[in-house]
Amino acid sequence: MSEGAYAISEWHDTDEIYARLNELVKQPPRPIRRDKMAEFLRYFEERCQRSKALTDEAKRYIPGGVQHNLAFNYPFPLAIERAEGAYMWDVDGNRYIDFLQAGGPTVLGSNYAPVREQVLQVLEQCGPVTGLFHEYELKLAQLVNRYMPSVEMFRMLGSGTEAVMAAIRVARIFTGKKKIIKAGGAYHGWSDSMVYGLHIPGSRRYEAAGIPRSASAHTQEFYPNDLGHLRRLLLLNRLRGGTAAVILEPVGPESGTRPVPRDFNQRVRELCDEFGALLIFDEVVTGFRLGMGGAQGYFGVRPDLTVFGKCIAGGYPMAGGLGGRREIMMHLAAGIGSGHKRAYVGGTLSANPLSCVAGYYALLEMERTNAPVLAGRAGDRLCKGLQEIIERHHLPFVAYNQGSIVHLETAGLMLLDFRHPLKLARELKPRQHLMEEMGAAYMSQGIITLAGSRLYTSMADTDEVIDDALDRFETVLSSVE
Ligand SMILES: Cc1ncc(COP(=O)(O)O)c(C=O)c1O
Repeated sequence: MSEGAYAISEWHDTDEIYARLNELVKQPPRPIRRDKMAEFLRYFEERCQRSKALTDEAKRYIPGGVQHNLAFNYPFPLAIERAEGAYMWDVDGNRYIDFLQAGGPTVLGSNYAPVREQVLQVLEQCGPVTGLFHEYELKLAQLVNRYMPSVEMFRMLGSGTEAVMAAIRVARIFTGKKKIIKAGGAYHGWSDSMVYGLHIPGSRRYEAAGIPRSASAHTQEFYPNDLGHLRRLLLLNRLRGGTAAVILEPVGPESGTRPVPRDFNQRVRELCDEFGALLIFDEVVTGFRLGMGGAQGYFGVRPDLTVFGKCIAGGYPMAGGLGGRREIMMHLAAGIGSGHKRAYVGGTLSANPLSCVAGYYALLEMERTNAPVLAGRAGDRLCKGLQEIIERHHLPFVAYNQGSIVHLETAGLMLLDFRHPLKLARELKPRQHLMEEMGAAYMSQGIITLAGSRLYTSMADTDEVIDDALDRFETVLSSVE
């Protein structure tokens, strides 16, 4: 596929981004001026009372008051009532420009009517689930195969987390090896073996409370972009039973928060081939957001297995799937007595008609409307505008994007690492708080972000929406100390 079919108009200068990010992390955190921050926080007290009452009450019944670990809690979570296109409305009637986009799946914009109508039709016919095969399972699998030829076979699952679990299990069966290597800091869901090296490279089991050591005994992390480190792990593993798979987010850990050089995935492909390990692309975020061919199409690298989530159900629930080479995927054969040595995976609601019809029509609509590319153009415009504001105010912050995945680093939290433990211990909390404050300040100006540092754009983000958003960002960024 040509570059024109993808959301990324030009791959960034990765070295330059790291130079700027390193500069940001070297400096002390730069918060918003105290008087301005107090003003931003007053918004929540004055305009979000119903959200506050609801989420306060929710704390009595729901641990932490919210169900999602991405829900933004500072100063308190907002309760959302309505979402449409580029906007969300809270229960107090306030409107926000929505750069969370549900965490990534809605490249068409929220609650896209042509998909909703197809979903409603299926719901009227058979409800959300029957437990038996539905034609949309086939249609979706065929469509994914058409967009991504590496996906010779496809298994629908309930979430990205489940799909990663299935990928690891099937990789171990196929290769007869145990070790799984991931990039430090990458998030691949919350399964026992993957809560390892989360968010911060070198953090290994830092977040693994409640998980026995044995569960992640065969998980390893390499320092992001350090191919030498990856090679050393592969070499060592060769002496200890071998590597089943290397799992990567192809734009870099945390949706490209630690971006990769353009040829990185190809280099990893070569290493996997040299050491007989499978290459798993976690395309939970990039799958269809970067283009219908996914990151694998953009980079021209063929993984053995691909993990799907988010877009695979078009923003509807039960979004997970695994695809790849036929001879590997056959170890996921379903049905009683398949006769294979098989990975035991499944779920009552796996491949329900609702998720499959939603995914099928969402993908078709994304192709028809060129949504990934339009969302990417919106990301470019947003990123350029943010860079311009940052420069004009002489701020150390860094904005960069991979198409419709836009990063706005003000706290540099994700850039801390365990190679500098003293700095990490000293700065983790203040930088976390700075990120919370930035997120709250944006929200007070009518902008929802992912944790104050990432922005997903969608096809619904017209130039007017982006320019309006930039005016609002200006208000916040011009208030920094
Ligand atoms: C790259 C990546 N992999 C896996 C997952 C887990 O997917 P899910 O939340 O559907 O379990 C996520 C979720 O954000 C993700 O971003």
